[in-house]
Amino acid sequence: MAQREYILDSSNHSLELCTRLLQEDRLVAVPTETVYGLAGNALSEKAVRQIFKVKGRPLIDPLITHFKSADAAFACVHPSAAAEALAAAFWPGPLTLILPKKAVIPDIVTAGLSSAAIRVPRQPLMRDLLQRLEFPLAAPSANPFGYVSPTRPEHVAHTLGDKIAAILDGGPCAHGIESTILDLRNPLNPGILRPGPICADAIEAILHREVNQPENSQRTGAQLAPGQLTKHYSPKTLIEIAAHGQLHFSRPEDEAVIANNKPTVPTGDHVYWLSECGDLDEVARNFFDLLQKLDRMHYSKLIIEAAPDTGIGAAFNDRLRRAAAR
Ligand code: TXA
Ligand code: MG
Repeated sequence: MAQREYILDSSNHSLELCTRLLQEDRLVAVPTETVYGLAGNALSEKAVRQIFKVKGRPLIDPLITHFKSADAAFACVHPSAAAEALAAAFWPGPLTLILPKKAVIPDIVTAGLSSAAIRVPRQPLMRDLLQRLEFPLAAPSANPFGYVSPTRPEHVAHTLGDKIAAILDGGPCAHGIESTILDLRNPLNPGILRPGPICADAIEAILHREVNQPENSQRTGAQLAPGQLTKHYSPKTLIEIAAHGQLHFSRPEDEAVIANNKPTVPTGDHVYWLSECGDLDEVARNFFDLLQKLDRMHYSKLIIEAAPDTGIGAAFNDRLRRAAAR
């Protein structure tokens, strides 16, 4: 278990300490607007190797590299006009672009692929940290491989706390769900590999062309991004999915029932909701946090209501399906 002093506040002193640790090839858990990341110097093979080890992640599963600016990011890849338009529209923010890489990004970061995943995060503390560094940060979500992603510093402390140098506390994550990943290797044929806070409609409005959606591959269980396994984000407790609006509250007391919104009828202590009024942004934001909490409460099963498949609801349903897969 991590000790309190490893959780660092937003002071200048904390940021200086994080900067020094990262310069020494140590790992720091960092806040982003999506989920917490397990960060190390992306240009240091030693630091990146350590990320895979601490997370228990296979070396075939590439990492996202985080930059302070679009200019810094595009210096490390071969951007297209489409990439530049999307960066202007959504960076800093929760969009990751897959583009042909340059040699400056070490092969270990991209698992030997000729493409790299890049993003410019929006979270203010993370931006401040990136500005202080002379290198970008490779960072997967700061959870053990396959487990629920962390949206609060405590989640990182519970699962990886004793394996990392520090956790930079940026409070709860604004989106609570990982970035949208867009494959832009061929700008004429863009495709979403992982749905997220930036939805397909918003991307299509910038590109003026249709974007391939991951639904078909999801149905067949095909792997999308190399690390997008069908079973992912999994708590220890079993999950059963209820269709939206089809949740029944009368379940045994040892089963937790999780609704999108607060029930209008009186229910028992084993009934939870992700948003008072069913706001989809709030449903997504609170999902991983509630999963982490319920997973420590010894329920025999979690019955979770799916969201409408619109906007960020699609990303929530994607994570829910993977969390439920066994
Ligand atoms: O919101 C996020 O994206 C968070 C925060 C920390 O930035 N990061 C995150 O990283 O979710 P991770 O490692 O948990 O998920 C990254 C996904 C993996 O599924 C990986 O396979 C995919 O991105 N990926 C990375 N590089 C890729 C590439 N060159 N081509 C295809 N997929 C790639
Ligand atoms: Mg992850």
